[in-house]
Amino acid sequence: MPNSNPNYPIFEMKVLVATDKPFAKVAVDGIRKVIVDAGYELVLLEKYGEKSKLLEAVADADALIIRSDVIDAEVMDAAPKLKIVVRAGAGFDNVDLAAATAHNICVMNTPGQNSNAVAELALGLMVMAVRNFYNGTSGTELKGKRLGIHAYGNVGRNVARIAKGFGMEISAYDAYCPDSVMEADGVRPMHSAEELYAGNDIVSLHIPATPETKGSINAALLSRMPKGAILVNTARKEVINEDELIEFMQQRLDFKYVTDIMPAANDKMTELFTGRYFSTPKKMGAQTAEANINAGIAAAHQIVGFLKDGIRKFQVNK
Ligand code: 3PG
Repeated sequence: MPNSNPNYPIFEMKVLVATDKPFAKVAVDGIRKVIVDAGYELVLLEKYGEKSKLLEAVADADALIIRSDVIDAEVMDAAPKLKIVVRAGAGFDNVDLAAATAHNICVMNTPGQNSNAVAELALGLMVMAVRNFYNGTSGTELKGKRLGIHAYGNVGRNVARIAKGFGMEISAYDAYCPDSVMEADGVRPMHSAEELYAGNDIVSLHIPATPETKGSINAALLSRMPKGAILVNTARKEVINEDELIEFMQQRLDFKYVTDIMPAANDKMTELFTGRYFSTPKKMGAQTAEANINAGIAAAHQIVGFLKDGIRKFQVNK
């Protein structure tokens, strides 16, 4: 029912921020400002835990800002007014793109906005691994070690930039990135995943989770890595063949795995691989105030641009 109280603003549109893993408060304040300045209402749903709460909250939302929150056909069915979903971040494997297209919903991501944060964490995990998880024993240094970057997108390029400061020898493999881009950064191009894994002491994963990449990091690939190798995963847990990783680590007692995406078998791996395995309790790569501000505010601007002017830059569904 329309509100007849003149002191009570009637908003044109409702923008819901639904983040089970909340943004920093400073980012939420920035998002709110962009949305309210555009004449829209901002509604916040954080740490909702159960899907039913999300289904309830989307009922009257025109636009949605999310992180790794799963947006499937059921959520879209529950949101008859929904016109746009912006994933504040890079990976959009958590959104059912076909269902979005069928519901006439535009899906966007905010590429590059959180990539420095993820890259810094990847290097942090590398330091932790070579220093034996800070257990007091003598470790080694990153300087002079060979780093292989698997996928040379926004995060991979930031990893290369930071790793250069550590004095690492850097190579990368990315089927979609021309050699010239890597070479311009002083990164040696590799031409297959096999070559990348065989030639590096540390591999840092930055591939998206797609039907082609899911389960693609398997024992055959890992067994190419040299003695004392380390795999760093700040990409997606789905790209790892977890059963094969476990079996492989049971045989290769020199191999370490560090990640910010907890494997399904975290308890088993913690027990089996003491001193060789570490996972953060939650996905932490993009969990900085800066990344939250960059990605969150970019998402808010993209929503305003779409709703007011029909701008579809960064749309990821067809
Ligand atoms: C991304 O795809 O942008 C990163 O994995 C960060 O995800 P998050 O927003 O859930 O932390």
